[in-house]
Amino acid sequence: MQQQQLLLSRVQSVVFWAVVAKAAWSVYRAILEGTLVKRVAATAVKVVPPAAIKALIDKELASVFKKIHGDGDASAALTVPARGLGGRAVVARLEELRTPYSDKTRGGVYRDPNSEVCETQNRAFELYNCSNALYTFAFPAVRKFEAETIAAAVDMVGGGTAESPSDEGSPRRKPPAINRRKTVAIYASAPTFSHGVVDDIVGLGNLAASLGIGLRVDNCLGGVLLSFGEGAPPFDFEIPGVTSMSVDLHKYGNASKGASVVAFRNARLRRRSYLPSGGGGGDGGGLYVTPTLQGSRNGAIIAQAWATLMHYGQDGYRDVAAEIKAAFAKALEIVRDTEDIDVLGTPDAAAIVPIVAGEGLKKTGITIYQVAAEMEAPRGWSAFTGPNPPVYSICVGQARAKPGVLEAWGNDLRAAISHLKTNTIGTTTTTTTTTATAAIIYGAASAVPEDVLNAVGRSSGPTSTSPLP
Ligand SMILES: Cc1ncc(COP(=O)(O)O)c(C=O)c1O
Repeated sequence: MQQQQLLLSRVQSVVFWAVVAKAAWSVYRAILEGTLVKRVAATAVKVVPPAAIKALIDKELASVFKKIHGDGDASAALTVPARGLGGRAVVARLEELRTPYSDKTRGGVYRDPNSEVCETQNRAFELYNCSNALYTFAFPAVRKFEAETIAAAVDMVGGGTAESPSDEGSPRRKPPAINRRKTVAIYASAPTFSHGVVDDIVGLGNLAASLGIGLRVDNCLGGVLLSFGEGAPPFDFEIPGVTSMSVDLHKYGNASKGASVVAFRNARLRRRSYLPSGGGGGDGGGLYVTPTLQGSRNGAIIAQAWATLMHYGQDGYRDVAAEIKAAFAKALEIVRDTEDIDVLGTPDAAAIVPIVAGEGLKKTGITIYQVAAEMEAPRGWSAFTGPNPPVYSICVGQARAKPGVLEAWGNDLRAAISHLKTNTIGTTTTTTTTTATAAIIYGAASAVPEDVLNAVGRSSGPTSTSPLP
């Protein structure tokens, strides 16, 4: 007994000193690498932003709050109603609150709610709304739809096109030197959101394979479009180093939001995405396993994604990809023909048109963010912006591809630039407060350190998720 106690105390002391040594070593290394000071500074900024930054953030958040809530919502429901309103009244309210469809605001990838595919999806929602994909035996059809949807999506990205267009001008960056011991995978995009760049997946695939690490391709936006479009650069599992991909069926697959597939090269990798919870843990509910972090999942989302794939078929998706490609070419032409702005690089055939300030605009001091804001607030076109370099981009979906829509957008773009040029004196533009604020926020996003931006992001959450009665 005494011997056992002695052994135990020795083990405890070895563990204790090992922990102390490890902590001391990481502090020492952090100092050596010069990261400690940076980390302390970053944490300080996160926790206590300097007064000037805080004042600026508070001012901007107050203005965003005002933009969202106006003078408040007298009808805001802050509790469950004491007496149920009943179906008819609730549906009437849903109809009343709905924003009418507009091709201008559906700037991303959305299909027309009056389209035939939407009708198919609505019916799928009706039929499978009261289901849970977690219960395989209770809802066998949902299991079948999910398995088939995943198989079809994986098949889609298993055979990309092989031709690689030359694109010297695109803002691709050389991958940084990789420390093999600290890296488990490389992350690449096909394409990136605001710049429309398909990374050099072949090059990165070779690099990943030579280092024996993973290569994840974020193919959320491009998955369906690049698979069915012509002339796309190589991006998928045909490249040996690619180990996992994400494909959003709810983007160019035209399914309703909430349907995305993560695909792995082999079963060994896929196994890691399952989340088992052994029996007897937590709530004592026995063995529980989910394919990802999510637990209960509404089968209707899965059923409509499956229905959408079946509705279009490969020929339907090829037609959509051709339609988008033509609209994309038209949008590029409009930007190239517009004075004072340029297309950034040569965007891959991926439907993002990145617009930057041309020499003419730069001379006036007007930023591309001001152009984006002018398009957004007074003219009603949804705008996306990004930093490094500052860019205003549009995502060409079916709403933009409709006859006349891009032409109207081009007219407004020229009008917005001309308005800014006429009304800019020195570096001040006499424009609406909303527009100026939006431009400042877009600009701040590229200038403010990421930690501060994240802190702002957290503070801004309640701006939209709190009601103002
Ligand atoms: C390249 C890329 N990855 C991921 C996402 C995130 O997609 P979601 O918000 O649909 O989950 C987006 C959204 O636009 C995207 O463009």
